[in-house]
Amino acid sequence: MQTVEFYQKQFLAYLEDFTNFQEPKNLYEPISYILNLGGKRLRPVLTLMSTEIFGTNYNKALDAALSIEVFHNFSLIHDDIMDDAPLRRGKETVHEKWDINRGILSGDAMLILAYKLFENYDSNTFQSLVKLFSETALQVCEGQQYDIDFEIRDDVTILEYIKMIEYKTAVLVGAALKMGAIVANASQEDQGNIYLFGKNLGIAFQLQDDYLDVFGDPKTFGKQVGGDIIENKKTYLYLKTLELSSDENKTQLKYLYELNPEDKQDKIDTVKSLIVLSKSDEETKKEIENYTEKAFSILNSINIPEEKKNKLKDFGRQLMTRTI
Ligand code: IPE
Ligand code: IPE
Ligand code: MG
Ligand code: MG
Ligand code: MG
Repeated sequence: MQTVEFYQKQFLAYLEDFTNFQEPKNLYEPISYILNLGGKRLRPVLTLMSTEIFGTNYNKALDAALSIEVFHNFSLIHDDIMDDAPLRRGKETVHEKWDINRGILSGDAMLILAYKLFENYDSNTFQSLVKLFSETALQVCEGQQYDIDFEIRDDVTILEYIKMIEYKTAVLVGAALKMGAIVANASQEDQGNIYLFGKNLGIAFQLQDDYLDVFGDPKTFGKQVGGDIIENKKTYLYLKTLELSSDENKTQLKYLYELNPEDKQDKIDTVKSLIVLSKSDEETKKEIENYTEKAFSILNSINIPEEKKNKLKDFGRQLMTRTI
């Protein structure tokens, strides 16, 4: 088994060949743009790692890894339209650089390209991959819908929030790992456990994403800091702050989330100070650790060498403390 950097490098080389698109330029240009914009390549690396963890060469999983990354990037184009986001990975979002129509259609094409990549597998593997992928992709849509629905609701619970992020984000992390296990022909039990590991890691990952949306460094974060606050996203930070604040601060927070003021920075600063005052930032950090630990404990039931488990744990710890 190799290092995370090694898998990243192999994946990027494979991606380079893939993004050699032809006409029409207006369809394919945004696809190349978003795929070459960088990003952590978390999901494809997990697919490649998982394949090797279960004893098969990562080469066999390159198409599945690419499929997951293409799907992820498709979901980001549409997510940025829905979230009205100006920045992605430090650059203009697709709909800002071109327009919404190109974002929609290029995204659609990417979803199809993601499916097409499975055609390179034998029929048994193909079937398992497609089945998992369809189920996961539909859950991502469901999660995204909840995310949007919650913007205008004022009674969202933490339980509902966790379910929402499980769908919009965590199932794809689980699926990335399970795809690797499918390619490697791992047992059903191992496939199920590696999926669960990924799902819990994915919940921690989205909690950290929400944390960084408020507390990230604008110089390095690559997205608009405070974007979730502007959009009235019902994140863990927000819900915890409501739970832990005085009545007066609670009222103020709710009031701010009913407004879409001209002065967005003022809203961001006030909400941020309410979060810190209630120590919900610390509570969120704790929850990130809880879900990461939960993920690690699931590894105990997988029959793989300790050394390989440690590689996954190192990666998980890296994600927990990331700044982008
Ligand atoms: C962003 O995903 C969307 C979420 C599910 C939080 P990443 O943080 O993995 O984005 P990139 O691919 O590294 O830019
Ligand atoms: C995105 O969640 C989840 C999906 C793209 C499916 P966010 O909206 O929090 O992701 P970012 O912060 O824009 O990357
Ligand atoms: Mg977004
Ligand atoms: Mg979103
Ligand atoms: Mg986010």
